[in-house]
Amino acid sequence: MTDDNGGLRWGVIGTGGIAHSFVEALRSTPTAKVTAVGSRTLERAEEFADAWNIPERHGAYADLAASPHVDAVYVATPHPWHHSNTLTCLNAGKHVLVEKPMAMNALQVSQMIEAARDNDRFLMEAMWTRYLPASRLVRDLVQDGAIGQVHWISAEFGVNAPYDPDHRLFNAELGGGALLDLGVYPLALASQYLGELTVVGATRQLSPDRMVDTHTTVLVRGENGGTASLACSSRTTLPNRAVLAGSKGWLEIPRFWAATDVVLHRDGSEPEHFHRPFRANGYEYEAEEVAHRVAAGQRQSPDMTWDESLRLARITDRIRDVGGLSYSPPTVKALPLT
Ligand SMILES: NC(=O)c1ccc[n+]([C@@H]2O[C@H](COP(=O)([O-])OP(=O)(O)OC[C@H]3O[C@@H](n4cnc5c(N)ncnc54)[C@H](OP(=O)(O)O)[C@@H]3O)[C@@H](O)[C@H]2O)c1
Repeated sequence: MTDDNGGLRWGVIGTGGIAHSFVEALRSTPTAKVTAVGSRTLERAEEFADAWNIPERHGAYADLAASPHVDAVYVATPHPWHHSNTLTCLNAGKHVLVEKPMAMNALQVSQMIEAARDNDRFLMEAMWTRYLPASRLVRDLVQDGAIGQVHWISAEFGVNAPYDPDHRLFNAELGGGALLDLGVYPLALASQYLGELTVVGATRQLSPDRMVDTHTTVLVRGENGGTASLACSSRTTLPNRAVLAGSKGWLEIPRFWAATDVVLHRDGSEPEHFHRPFRANGYEYEAEEVAHRVAAGQRQSPDMTWDESLRLARITDRIRDVGGLSYSPPTVKALPLT
């Protein structure tokens, strides 16, 4: 399963921006090894492998999935390929960490979970934010009752990216849209602290070709009665902070999707500031979570369970349905809400 020092042997599928960041992060984990990279072309696989000194390079994703020198695969392709790439790897007996959003819709997510269960392999959506030291601090503070019962959340993630109809963020064929790319972060935060979400209302702005959303604002209600006001944008820089307000105070998380700082405001007290920097670039913590769970023989991470990914996919389906947004390929269908 793992090699001599007990570290997980990683394979990487896709050679884009986030694949580089992930491999860079793994450099800060002495036991982790990247043993193989897979690309749609051997040239790009060679280029990536040379940049990071990776021994195996494959000109087809399926070849990487079949490698006997890989324990776990990091799927770093655009969202429409998460489903098929993940199935290929799971069916080849590999553990999988797949980039967010886990897939294009809840139906695909449910099929990926089924494949992990059938093959008895680990599977996790790469919701890296949840594993950051600052995010874990927030989780612990909330669990310890520092702000009491969480009643309200506000969170947004917006960047002002230049409009480019060929870019992943704006191209429907590549799974574009602010909601799937950026909106999953505020939604995941709300889901973490409010429980299963119900969409109360949603509004959006569309790209000039009207194929994807460039801005989405959502009002959701959690199962415990709390509410959240969430937004995402690919055309506007937003403050990108999160606020969790409870019966005894509130927490502020600047740049919450890549959090390093937390401010605790207990009612009637001076604010308390916490700083929790990354060891590398932040992706090292999710990778360590995978290694830790696989070593323990577990198939899910308790901080990002299969059910949680399915719930998130259902809620994004629902938000999309509210505005009638559909994605190519046309065979991609949303799973009805249960
Ligand atoms: N966690 C985070 O902070 C974070 C940040 C950025 C992105 N992401 C997620 O990571 C995924 C990839 O994002 P990215 O920014 O790395 O994308 P990217 O730079 O466009 O790279 C994606 C890679 O996927 C492969 N690919 C496979 N089919 C493709 C197709 N039809 N068109 C284009 N590329 C294709 C390509 O590698 P080959 O040509 O080598 O096959 C390409 O280099 C997305 O799902 C995104 O949501 C996460």
